[in-house]
Amino acid sequence: MCGIVGYIGSADVCDVLLSGLRRLEYRGYDSAGIAINSGGELHIVRSVGKVARLAERVAAEWTDALRAGAKAGIAHTRWATHGAPTEENAHPHADQSGRVLLVHNGIIENYGSLRRQLEGRGHTFQSQTDTEVLAHLVGECYRGKLFEAVSQALKHVEGTYGIAVISAAHPGEIVVARNGSPLLVGLCEGAAVIASDASAVIAHTRQVIYLQDGDVAAVRADGVDIRNLDQIPVDRAISQIDWDDTAVEKGGHAHFMRKEIWEQPEALQNTIRGRLDERAGCAILSGLNLSPREMAAVNRIVLVACGTSLYAGMTGRYALEGLAGIPTDAEQAAEFRYRNPIIGPDSMVVAVSQSGETADTLAAVREAHHKGALVAGVCNVVGSTIAREAARGIYLHAGPEIGVASTKAFSSQVLVLVMLALAFGRGRRLSREEGAALCREMAAVPELVRRVLAQDAAIAALAARLAPASSAFFIGRGVLYPAALEGALKLKEISYVHAEGYHAAELKHGPIALLDEQTPVVALLNDVPGRDKMLGNVQECLARHAPVLAVASEGDAEVASLVPDCIFVPRTGVYTTPILAVVALQLLAYHVARLRGCPIDQPRNLAKSVTVE
Ligand code: G6P
Repeated sequence: MCGIVGYIGSADVCDVLLSGLRRLEYRGYDSAGIAINSGGELHIVRSVGKVARLAERVAAEWTDALRAGAKAGIAHTRWATHGAPTEENAHPHADQSGRVLLVHNGIIENYGSLRRQLEGRGHTFQSQTDTEVLAHLVGECYRGKLFEAVSQALKHVEGTYGIAVISAAHPGEIVVARNGSPLLVGLCEGAAVIASDASAVIAHTRQVIYLQDGDVAAVRADGVDIRNLDQIPVDRAISQIDWDDTAVEKGGHAHFMRKEIWEQPEALQNTIRGRLDERAGCAILSGLNLSPREMAAVNRIVLVACGTSLYAGMTGRYALEGLAGIPTDAEQAAEFRYRNPIIGPDSMVVAVSQSGETADTLAAVREAHHKGALVAGVCNVVGSTIAREAARGIYLHAGPEIGVASTKAFSSQVLVLVMLALAFGRGRRLSREEGAALCREMAAVPELVRRVLAQDAAIAALAARLAPASSAFFIGRGVLYPAALEGALKLKEISYVHAEGYHAAELKHGPIALLDEQTPVVALLNDVPGRDKMLGNVQECLARHAPVLAVASEGDAEVASLVPDCIFVPRTGVYTTPILAVVALQLLAYHVARLRGCPIDQPRNLAKSVTVE
């Protein structure tokens, strides 16, 4: 949550900062702010709303001369935690003197007591934020060296932060620090860009240093000095970003979400590339770094995740149990970490997270380490905190996902988990032939997804029937139960239509009371175990006059005669069917949101990366 960008160098500082913020807007977009050091003076503009609004204000309020004089600056796009999204609460925040400015992503947990102490020493605050307290603390610790002041101040802080600090007295320096919130430094020729993620620096450089927890760095145009909070230098490797700027552009699509839905065949191809060994009937997952013997010792798997990633985990659970015969749970990460879970050395905890930064999932990873489990990450963002802390894992290689509603990450996550199930299954009960058949099934998925996408126009027509509804149900069974949850999540988050995902068998235990002519039911009727029972459940809905829309397998005449409003998707194996069903539901949600005129890539109140509990 919250995006940070900073720049020091000779390019137009405002341009670099504002274009970086646009890239990071997915992280939060309720208010934004920018500050520059021009001619030894600090200048700030903050505004409620999106970055576009901030850019208008900057254009109106800052003269060309002022902008030209800027050699360094910081900027922020916010997802409010402490204090409403108002101009006063927008970052950057100043210290008591107004000569130090700071932007922050994360939460200062002891800000209440720090604020009271500072107030006792005469400090006055302009905002309700935890961040302003940190700015004051830095100001109070300042004795002529900004780098040292920041290090000193952070020693008093409990919580998470990625911060960038500038000072009127230090025009050639941005001091940054991280603990629990991502931050990287992009290295350019005679310049440096700092940002919450690589999408904001890729236009300038591919060489980045990912800061680690406890790092504090003085970033200057000619280099970076990284130390720990005790000011002892630490060594951090330079990484190369292996994708380019076009990956974070809309590429002719109206929305990132649409682009990312359309990218799925390619993303899935990248997910499986080099990982399916049909001859051995196995999956090659070298990042797992487990010998067959170590894999054989795993007797329990717990998938921990949040949001869409949790639904991918729930889907993967069927594959891990069905193919590998390993008792598997998929658990909401916050629930896992606070439940004191029973985990032993023969347990493997798999954290599923697109961003690799979700606070609850990260905390679950740490808890799993404490319990002595094997811990693996299934992440999309390379070098993300979960990917690093899990120490072993499988990257999705789905490419950057910008739309707040996750799409291509879900399908890649499911495919990764089916590969994981194959890898475990081969060591246990799957024959080479069964493994080879599964490899072929997975290899065919990208093309089958393409065939679902080809039905875009038909799905858009069905969406028109759903769009006027104020409430809808999504029902499924077995491997399609999590798909129903994901379909409902997609619809509610981007179209604001109240939608509930239910196990079809559970409908009659209460929710059926809500069904009437105005309450559509989207039923997942693909030809997988549970389909026949689903037909009965659909009858129950029809008998209550609920309009039913279905997703079913191509050529299913029985479904076609029961439910005229049907999206047919290709047939595939049980464990890959949810991918095809969910792609259809992504398109359905997308078109409903479009028809309702919703801000699809940035739904209200949401953020893509949830780095608070
Ligand atoms: C947020 C996003 C969702 C995502 C969830 C988990 O809520 O809006 O799209 O599924 O976080 O994120 P992760 O990065 O851990 O997969």
